[in-house]
Amino acid sequence: MDYKILATKYGTPLYIYDFDYIKSRYLALKNAFSARKSLVCFAVKANSNLSVLKFLANLGSGFDCVSIGEVRRALLAGANAYKIIFSGVGKKDEELKEALQNNILMINLESPAEMLRLENIAKELKKQARISIRVNPNVDAKTHPYISTGLNENKFGVEISEAKKMYLYAKKSEWLQPYGIHFHIGSQLTELAPIIEAANIVSNIMSELKALEIDIKFFDVGGGIGVIYENENEISLYDYAQGILGALKGQDVTVICEPGRFLTANAGVFLTKVLYQKLNSKKRFVIVDGAMNDLIRPSLYNAHHGISVVSKQNGEISNENSVQNLNEISKADVVGPICESSDFLAKNVDLPELKNGDLLLVKSAGAYGFSMSSNYNSRLRCAEVALENGTDRLIRRRESFEYLIALEREFI
Ligand code: LLP
Repeated sequence: MDYKILATKYGTPLYIYDFDYIKSRYLALKNAFSARKSLVCFAVKANSNLSVLKFLANLGSGFDCVSIGEVRRALLAGANAYKIIFSGVGKKDEELKEALQNNILMINLESPAEMLRLENIAKELKKQARISIRVNPNVDAKTHPYISTGLNENKFGVEISEAKKMYLYAKKSEWLQPYGIHFHIGSQLTELAPIIEAANIVSNIMSELKALEIDIKFFDVGGGIGVIYENENEISLYDYAQGILGALKGQDVTVICEPGRFLTANAGVFLTKVLYQKLNSKKRFVIVDGAMNDLIRPSLYNAHHGISVVSKQNGEISNENSVQNLNEISKADVVGPICESSDFLAKNVDLPELKNGDLLLVKSAGAYGFSMSSNYNSRLRCAEVALENGTDRLIRRRESFEYLIALEREFI
């Protein structure tokens, strides 16, 4: 792909997603579960662009949503309502109501209080609610503490004993129908053992529920499959699926998984332009036009994203290793224009001498990149482009200043 041409055509900074890659990841995951009924529900929070969702919906994907905004996006993108699940620790009444009215597959409950709210709303609407309960299996996912969710110290889900009580209550209720069981122990998981441990714990709960004539149809293992940003271990999909199916011990359920990052992280790059170089007595800074408002993962989690220079000769990228062969390589921090010391995209990376107009690619940016972006410093959120079958197309226009101030202007 000629990134120089894309930069000229769409401007920078720019998110670029390879849809063919997303498709190959989706199919690989579906294939791993082919021995079973399975439903892949893409975690919309990872990349909520409507064209990404539409592309996945056309492949048959379902969607894991954590706000009614995400549910609306999925429906607008053409998702089958019966493939949408609605999760999240704090859903509002209006959100629960709309989700029910839209006949989505099920609502993932995260507290007894929420279950009672939903029961009331279902009663008002005279519509039975299909529910799933997010169980917190108290398993250490061994990932970054900010994205670890399966321990009792985390705010997510309910403890096992509480979950059982909730299922018993729901079974008796005229307005609640136990339908699924859910867990999600964390994100960017690079070890399989904690996922399988959790799957076994939750599968055992399901067997106990069955003995109480509570019939669970969907076994939802959450998302969290890690990807390679630098040199991480990637879990084998075969082992992942086999481990989960093994935990199910032949129980007749549909397996749901909710991958976000796995499908889109390495489909995306963030293209940014060098503005200046600056040297002080301690450091070399490469100042670019992209910033923490566009891609916050380095600032927020100290996350690593590989950096490549778009080569000057032919517009193709040179990878991180071949950069070593260029002249005048030295360590630099790649920083944005925002007024925060934490505004960096990479630290201490080997880069050749760069000048205004040179292009850098920030890799693995297709998940939690644009979807976590903001307008901090009154910066306009950037454009997004899709690559499919060798062609490029715009899938989100760059924001304008008028758009930025639209909700304030009338009040001055
Ligand atoms: N299902 C549930 C219930 C979740 O909470 C999440 C992510 C997913 C699925 C998708 O997880 P994935 O497959 O993408 O790991 N902003 C952070 C990640 C936060 C993830 C929150 N939950 C980051 O940039 O690393």
